Amino acid sequence: MLLTGLRGVGKTVLLNEVERLAEEVGYRTIAIEAHEDKPLGPLVAPHLKTVLYQLDRLEGVGNKVKRGLAVLRSFLGGLKVTMGELTIGLDISPEEGAADSGDLEIDLPNLFCAVAEAAEERKTAIAILIDEIQYFNQMELGALIMAMHRLQQRQLPLVLLGAGLPILPGLAGESKSYAERLFNFPEVGALSEEDAARALRDPALAADVEFERAALQEVFRLTRGYPYFLQEWGYQGWNLAPSSPITLQIVKQATDVVMQRLDENFFRVRFDRLTPGEKDFLRAAAELGEGPYRTGDIAEIKGVKITSLGPVRAKMIKKGMIYSPAHGEVAFTVPLFDQFMLRAIPDFPS
Ligand SMILES: Nc1ncnc2c1ncn2[C@@H]1O[C@H](COP(=O)(O)OP(=O)(O)OP(=O)(O)O)[C@@H](O)[C@H]1O
Ligand SMILES: [Mg+2]
Repeated sequence: MLLTGLRGVGKTVLLNEVERLAEEVGYRTIAIEAHEDKPLGPLVAPHLKTVLYQLDRLEGVGNKVKRGLAVLRSFLGGLKVTMGELTIGLDISPEEGAADSGDLEIDLPNLFCAVAEAAEERKTAIAILIDEIQYFNQMELGALIMAMHRLQQRQLPLVLLGAGLPILPGLAGESKSYAERLFNFPEVGALSEEDAARALRDPALAADVEFERAALQEVFRLTRGYPYFLQEWGYQGWNLAPSSPITLQIVKQATDVVMQRLDENFFRVRFDRLTPGEKDFLRAAAELGEGPYRTGDIAEIKGVKITSLGPVRAKMIKKGMIYSPAHGEVAFTVPLFDQFMLRAIPDFPS
């Protein structure tokens, strides 16, 4: 399963909950977070080592765990990975040729199968949870998909749960068609007005505090149901209210504080990572409303050729600032970022 959605909608919260549930029913879990410039192999290898060591301590006969370690060692040879100063210490000889071709699309499936066979032998199952999965490159995502495909064909007990910005539109060819068949892609988005109201009302009620109806409506109008924003308005509203109920007046008072905090933190950290060219691109996009935007329309506003925007567009997708919901289109990954861009750069063209 791959949970996808915009920034701050609750993907990580959900993934952590899934991990807790998986552990509860007996899975061995591996939780990793992908980063912009951190390759998949070195990221996952130490966790597989840990899990193989755990399996080694479980009851059971057979040599699949030892083999798993030997294949992992072979995989490391293929990566020629040095983790900081030292290679990850594995006191076992590599199984030559098992996962050391250097081609991740071959090696990763072999490695995952060997680890899953070890789990099967010890009558357990493994769940790999990967957050920010969009940061893997095409080749890594392809390898991951191939690996899961192989595991599924062989019905081995290893599952993948990912979360991140939408990746499917960016995948090409075989990877894409496999991915479509292999994974569920539940979309995590904003809450409905009713759910948004409950998210604020229920925890407050537990402390005998109520929200005025008009207050809840105003919060929904401002947040559009996005979980992170609900959290912020709830927090400030709670702190500002002298007593129950939390009124519309209080919410309005909270809004100034929240907007200022969001602008200074949530939005600003992302803004500050942009180059001047990228800011200009996004500011032009914001002229067009909340998006998605056709790249051609942005080019038109800027008065440049569409091809000249290619590199800046690609860079921002890599940074996770925008994504492509459909061919030829881009959209902000951060809800309400278009409005922030208008506040951050009031004059355009500057
Ligand atoms: N079930 C929940 N209960 C309470 N708060 C929640 C819940 N889900 C989301 N939130 C709020 O939303 C915030 C963002 O959630 P989370 O970090 O999981 O989003 P995300 O989708 O992983 O965002 P990003 O793409 O930036 O990583 C949380 O810090 C919390 O304030
Ligand atoms: Mg997250």
